[in-house]
Amino acid sequence: MGKNLTLNLADNGYKVACFDLDQSKIDAIVSQDDVERKTPEPRVVGCRSYTELLKNLKAPHTIILSVPAGEPVDHVCHHLIDAGVQADDIVVDTGNSLWTDSVQREAKYKGKFIFFSTAISGGEVGARFGPSLMPSGDPYAWTRIESIWQAVAAKVDPNTGLPIESYEVGKPVTEGEPCTTYIGPVGAGHYVKMVHNGIEYADMQLICEAYHIMRNGLDMSPKEIAQTYRDWNKGELNSYLIEISAEVLDQLDPETGAALVDIIMDKAGQKGTGLWTAVSALQVGSPAQTITQAVFARSLSSFKKERVIASQKLSGPDPSMTHVDSKETVIKQLHDALYCSKICAYAQGFQLMDIAAKEHGWKLDFAEIAKIWRAGCIIRAIFLQSITKAYENDEHLENLLLDPFFIDQINKYQSNWRRAIASATIAGIPCPAMSSALSYYDSYRCEVLPANLLQGQRDFFGAHTYSRTDKPESKKYHIEWNSSDRAQVIVKR
Ligand code: 6PG
Repeated sequence: MGKNLTLNLADNGYKVACFDLDQSKIDAIVSQDDVERKTPEPRVVGCRSYTELLKNLKAPHTIILSVPAGEPVDHVCHHLIDAGVQADDIVVDTGNSLWTDSVQREAKYKGKFIFFSTAISGGEVGARFGPSLMPSGDPYAWTRIESIWQAVAAKVDPNTGLPIESYEVGKPVTEGEPCTTYIGPVGAGHYVKMVHNGIEYADMQLICEAYHIMRNGLDMSPKEIAQTYRDWNKGELNSYLIEISAEVLDQLDPETGAALVDIIMDKAGQKGTGLWTAVSALQVGSPAQTITQAVFARSLSSFKKERVIASQKLSGPDPSMTHVDSKETVIKQLHDALYCSKICAYAQGFQLMDIAAKEHGWKLDFAEIAKIWRAGCIIRAIFLQSITKAYENDEHLENLLLDPFFIDQINKYQSNWRRAIASATIAGIPCPAMSSALSYYDSYRCEVLPANLLQGQRDFFGAHTYSRTDKPESKKYHIEWNSSDRAQVIVKR
């Protein structure tokens, strides 16, 4: 990541000094610059210590950290202090840091240097040719960093919302809207990136569930599914994640020549950002169940040994899904199910950011956030242009599901969505994220939920009180359940 970001900066006309504890990494950047540059002067200066790094940078310094989240960030910060970093120097953390760590770091390093955070999405290729950048922190620091991030960020055609891509070394994209915007106070940017990753987990899991259903319920080969994804990539589902899923499904194992996907161990890894999103959703009381289900799906996948035993002991139905509908019909249903579920996953992510923003006093601009996710980042998709429009039309939109365009889309596709989930359920093929998305939709549109009975239960065993639909909500009532007349009392607190 650090190497690619350095070369991206160099391509955009910046002279960069870099340092790493592992000198071979610096040597690799300098030699790559020697190969790539068209100028006689090196664009990258390799340094052998923190002191040399500061000496090679113009004061006031802007130092970009590309180190793993957690302890390494503080480790580098302390070394920079020892090397003589100054109060008006800016240190930018670009790792997948926990947003609360960024808040603490800004306070901790106050007076020593300005700690600024910029969450980055797009992986290694993004870092090299244009990532999506989510900066937050001191507004003054932003005035010094803005032009740098605008130069290196991915760019979007403002009319179509599509990425303007160039993967040519030395030829960065200079036209279009840069995928970066000031998100807010420190922590806000990393919070938004954390939710981006939560959505990424859901999006990936939904694609995997569609694959699982096609593979087991329709008996399709990985190649056939890859082709289906390529077809889907021409329409509403067009996205980077669909595109790479087709590539993965098409890949043959270099060792055996079989489909690689059939050989990859079905145990999903995770570095923690999806988990953080789920924890935050639970903490602020935001119903992000599809995102959370995606985290659980990864956890359940890790019980491989137990699943193998259970597969022999626990019975289920015949997985074939073509008894009622034809294969083509099921594929169309799955397309619509994936699309509607995806809308719900994004609705949950934006709802979570909205609730968290209110809790933490941030003013998040959701149209701008959707805009900077249209290119460069892992969840980039054509559909983010519709989300951008939804929030441009109504910046106070309470839920994406209430936007007229998305109301119309779900109306159009929901019967197929329901049908796909029902058929997969009858066939015994799990689709936890898809079905949780449908439950989210059905719960959200439900005027009366069974929480009325739940409140009755709580009042019965714990005198937790209830409000009445025919009286002001603030008034609390309790039934004296153990008395013979079961009288209702008004509870004063
Ligand atoms: C991105 C990715 C990036 C990284 C994730 C993967 O936006 O560029 O999200 O941040 O690939 O950390 O996370 P898991 O290892 O948890 O899947």
